[in-house]
Amino acid sequence: MSDSLPSRSQEKSIENMFGDIAHRYDFLNHLLSFGVDIHWRNQAVNLALKDAPKDILDVATGTGDLAISLKKVIPNANISAIDFAENMLNIAKQKTSKKSLKIDFKVGDGQNIDFADNSFDLLTIAYGIRNFSDRDLGLREFYRVLKPNGKLIILEFPPPTKDLFGRLFSFYFFKISPYIAGFFSGRRDAYEYLGKSVREFPSPEEFTAMIAKAGFAKPSYKRQLFGISVLYYGEKQ
Ligand SMILES: C[S@@+](CC[C@H](N)C(=O)[O-])C[C@H]1O[C@@H](n2cnc3c(N)ncnc32)[C@H](O)[C@@H]1O
Repeated sequence: MSDSLPSRSQEKSIENMFGDIAHRYDFLNHLLSFGVDIHWRNQAVNLALKDAPKDILDVATGTGDLAISLKKVIPNANISAIDFAENMLNIAKQKTSKKSLKIDFKVGDGQNIDFADNSFDLLTIAYGIRNFSDRDLGLREFYRVLKPNGKLIILEFPPPTKDLFGRLFSFYFFKISPYIAGFFSGRRDAYEYLGKSVREFPSPEEFTAMIAKAGFAKPSYKRQLFGISVLYYGEKQ
């Protein structure tokens, strides 16, 4: 497998890094993706809607965009959302208090989830699992906290392809976007890290196999926008 994982000590600096860029995170997400990130999360929400889940956990929720979109379309759902970077959660809380949306945001590690077994109908994680130091452990935790028949939905960036589109995208993503992000956030290194972590993430086929290995049935993936982002799916048996 091609991925090299962040170590536990690197995780602490990843947490600090997200803490430092929190105030600019939403703005830069939408700017650097030309707003397409909203569409990618909406595809995850549409998939989630099919089962009308009642108890939902959004892991690595960051500034809460996916949790907020879920709450808007499934207002009766009980939504919990965890992230290890408190500054990211503070932005998420400001956003939900402005919109009077009730989501239970908590500081927490996606590899050691502070919820009982069989707690959720749906677990989502958008662009977070590539930062885990032990992704198999994370997937097993997701399995543990899901109820039987619970659904797993993951969004993640795969390593870029080697075709013309992939090369052009790589040039933009690895060479140009860190400068734009550095200008606005003062942490160019953070966006260089994000690029590196994408390059080192498993391929969609490899990651789908990891989802299956964690025990999930019907593991599958769907490429979004020429494969820049990937939507993964699995079901607890
Ligand atoms: C790229 S952001 C994605 C945030 C959000 N889900 C979104 O779609 O915009 C990655 C988030 O994962 C969080 N994160 C990374 N590793 C984590 C872990 N082990 N446990 C909890 N949160 C983690 C970071 O703090 C950061 O907020």
